[in-house]
Formats: sequence, C-alpha cells, structure tokens
Amino acid sequence: MAPISSSELTDKVVLITGGSRGIGFSAAKALGNLGATVLIVGVSPDNLARAVAQLVSLGIDADGICIDVANGDAVAEKIGNHALAAGADILINSAGVMSEKMAKTLRTSQDEWRRVMSINLDGTFNMISAVGPQMAARKSGRIINVSACLGRFTGPGLAGGLAPYRISKAGVNALTKNLAAELGSGTRGVLVDAMCPNHTQTDMGGPLAPRTPDEAADTICWLATRTHDADTQTGLLWEDRKIVPW
Ligand SMILES: NC(=O)c1ccc[n+]([C@@H]2O[C@H](COP(=O)([O-])OP(=O)(O)OC[C@H]3O[C@@H](n4cnc5c(N)ncnc54)[C@H](OP(=O)(O)O)[C@@H]3O)[C@@H](O)[C@H]2O)c1
Repeated sequence: MAPISSSELTDKVVLITGGSRGIGFSAAKALGNLGATVLIVGVSPDNLARAVAQLVSLGIDADGICIDVANGDAVAEKIGNHALAAGADILINSAGVMSEKMAKTLRTSQDEWRRVMSINLDGTFNMISAVGPQMAARKSGRIINVSACLGRFTGPGLAGGLAPYRISKAGVNALTKNLAAELGSGTRGVLVDAMCPNHTQTDMGGPLAPRTPDEAADTICWLATRTHDADTQTGLLWEDRKIVPW
C-alpha cells in the first residue's frame, strides 16, 4: 500500500466512534500521527481514558468523548455542543457490536435486535446527524462508515445467521449510498463512503483473525486522506482501497 502523505491532516479534526479499541483505535493512531487532532468516542469511560492516554503518549493531540452512540439525544447534545466535534473535518463511524452467535432471524429476541440495530445503524445515523449539516454547509468533509462484508447483498453477505448484525450493516451500506446521493455524490465537497475492514484481530474479531487492526484501518485512513477532484468516486463500498459490490 502506498504511504499516506503526512502533510494532509495538520489542522484537521477527526471524530472517530469506536476509537477506544480495535480498528477505530488504529485509525485514530494513524490519523493522529499524520497531524490530525483526534476526538475518540466510546461508551466505557475506562477504555476511553486508557486510549486517550495511549494516543497522547505517542505525541498525538487527542481527547475523548464518552457517549452511547445509540442515544440520539445524548449524541445531539454532547457532539452538537462540542465546538471541535461538531465542526469535525472527518467523521469515522467505527463503533459497533456483534450479534449473539445463534442470532438467526427467527431466534432473535426484540431486545437483541434493538441492541445491535441501535448501536450499529442508529448510532451511525445519530453521529452523521450531529456532524453532517456543518460539513454540508461548509462544502467540505469526509464521512467513512465502517461496515462489514457480512452486510453486502453479494459475495459473503446476507447468507443467513447473525441476522441483526448483517442487517444493521446492510442498513449502514444503504445509509451511505443514500446520503452520498443527497450530498451530490461528492460534487458539493462532502465524500461519504462505507468500507469493509475484513476479519480482524480485535475484541470483536478474536485473536485468530488474519488481519491486524492497523491493516484493517488502512482503507479508512486512505479514504480519509485521498485527494478530492472531479474524478473522485464516492458513495461506494471499499475494501483494501478497491470498490466492492454492495
Ligand atoms: N473485527 C472484525 O473482524 C470486523 C470485521 C468486519 C467489520 N467490523 C466492524 O468494524 C468496526 C470496529 O470493530 P472492532 O473489531 O474494532 O470492534 P471492537 O474491538 O469490539 O471495538 C468496538 C468499539 O466500539 C465502541 N462501542 C461499542 N458500543 C458502543 C456504543 N454504544 N457507543 C459508543 N461506542 C461504542 C467500543 O467502545 P468501548 O471501548 O467504550 O466499549 C469500541 O471502541 C465495527 O463497526 C465492526 O462491525 C469488524
């Protein structure tokens, strides 16, 4: 993979949900190392404090915002009233939870359905609602939604099982494509994309997964830093810096 130029993110603010652990933390580290101010969002105060301390120890300008992304009112209040976060240049929605292993559709409880949908899909919508209007008004911004191959309508997607998870990610994909179209498919300065990190060694992916979180974060960082011109493709699903079918 080509290295990302280090001059691109000075004076930029990157807001990353799920930045306290896993793939989101790796993205925060990589983009912070490129000079960005990183604001990481997590739900556990301890995890958040630990992650911020780690980033700061690397010389990164980092801070944490503790919110449950599923709580739309809390997101609107805490992000909307946080000048840096509300005006973020780049929003990365990486916060997510896996569904219970046996969560076939007909075995999924209402509580389990709502738990996964509210974090993975509503949480993405809540964060975009808090930050997107300023990006649209400024005609500048990047929104990167961390999706999953399991949410595709092709390839490994929607083959049954893990129903709330797969369907939440299919929803994230739909939200991405729809929002990108509403924002002029990049012609008005805001790029909106989804990406699949692939099976990754995190608390969610487990220790035997083939990729490291840093490898998984590469496409996120590439989307966050790629140059934007008339030929830039957006409103798409990406994996390893390449477009994959929804
Ligand atoms: N790992 C994989 O193999 C894989 C594969 C495909 C897609 N993905 C996707 O990649 C993204 C990141 O996954 P990961 O493997 O890095 O997961 P992870 O290691 O389990 O980390 C999950 C992150 O999400 C945050 N989070 C969870 N619920 C939240 C809530 N209600 N409000 C705010 N933050 C919340 C966690 O914060 P706390 O630390 O505060 O709990 C943590 O930072 C997810 O969207 C996942 O679906 C992962």
